[in-house]
Amino acid sequence: MNATAALTGLGTALPTRRVTNEELSRVLDTDDQWIQSRTGIKQRFWSAGEATSDLAVEAGRSALRSAGTDTVEMVIVATTTPDHPCPATAPDVASRLGLGVVPAFDIAAVCSGFVYGLACAAAHIAAGLASSVLVIGAETYSTILDPDDRTTSVIFGDGAGAAVLRATAPDGPGSFLAFDLGSDGSLKDLITIPDGGSRQRTSGSGPAGSYFTMQGKPVFRHAVDRMTESARTLLETTGWAAGSIDWFVGHQANARILRAVADGLGVKSDRVIMDMDRVGNTSAASIPLALARAVADGNLVPGDRVLLSAFGGGVTWGSSVLVWPDIVAL
Ligand code: UT7
Repeated sequence: MNATAALTGLGTALPTRRVTNEELSRVLDTDDQWIQSRTGIKQRFWSAGEATSDLAVEAGRSALRSAGTDTVEMVIVATTTPDHPCPATAPDVASRLGLGVVPAFDIAAVCSGFVYGLACAAAHIAAGLASSVLVIGAETYSTILDPDDRTTSVIFGDGAGAAVLRATAPDGPGSFLAFDLGSDGSLKDLITIPDGGSRQRTSGSGPAGSYFTMQGKPVFRHAVDRMTESARTLLETTGWAAGSIDWFVGHQANARILRAVADGLGVKSDRVIMDMDRVGNTSAASIPLALARAVADGNLVPGDRVLLSAFGGGVTWGSSVLVWPDIVAL
């Protein structure tokens, strides 16, 4: 039988600069009350010069230490904010981690990137193409935010989270039991960075074209629908009742989205991990950061049934389930 991929290590990194809602309220027409009540966010961390690869290396190093290893056979970096349009960020990260000449590549699935990365790693392991994979979600959204746009600037933060996956016997501790991934490119305009690609190198509108844009309202609606549907599909696949989920760890875009998804699934609200208050929406880094916090807080313990679900630009979505292994998050 094909090997299953199990989670064996978890690591995180945050930039040094903490940015509170109060600080943003001094430069934007916004306030702490609006931000907290509409999103659940109290603060975020923004790069003080760290590039995405710097955070990815730090998180990756911690994940390797958490897994008790200094080798893996593949590195995947999920990011919307690579160091450069070319080359990918993952080979640089692999090299700086001293991992040798292993295959390394980036995944561009925006906020669903980490779940896509986990699925990709699990598929490589199941196919026998790798026996261990380092999956990193790393972002520096502060470098692509329009500083004058209050609808995006208050939401996104920088950070990285990394996981080591290793081949294990089917249903071994920490195995990813199933995945559900999807996309709908007809909604590609809801979340964009318009300039810099082959369609439009530059729109001639100066820096504006290279800023991140998001149509918040429709994204909210699609995020709730798709995450709920995707998670429900997985629960049916695994035969897990919603009431048996110990922790729902969704992409940390908005506390209201996560509550709505949990409601739709029938997962109790006190089983939802919330981490956006501490770090904002960190896109591909948000799920591993939330997992690490849940472990650090003593909430997530070995044997817990965990449901992951994400939604992001593309649009893309993805979910997975696992039984939590006995690991330390670093
Ligand atoms: O991570 C990838 C996926 N992303 C998401 O899932 C994000 C999904 N969307 C959302 O989380 C929410 O739509 C937002 C948090 C982005 C916005 O919340 P909302 O409740 O949908 O607000 P809205 O866009 O409908 O705006 C309501 C009002 C507007 O004013 P008027 O037109 O009612 O006078 C906005 O101009 O709030 C205003 N507003 C703000 N006010 C103070 C928008 N941003 C701000 C702000 N501070 N930062």
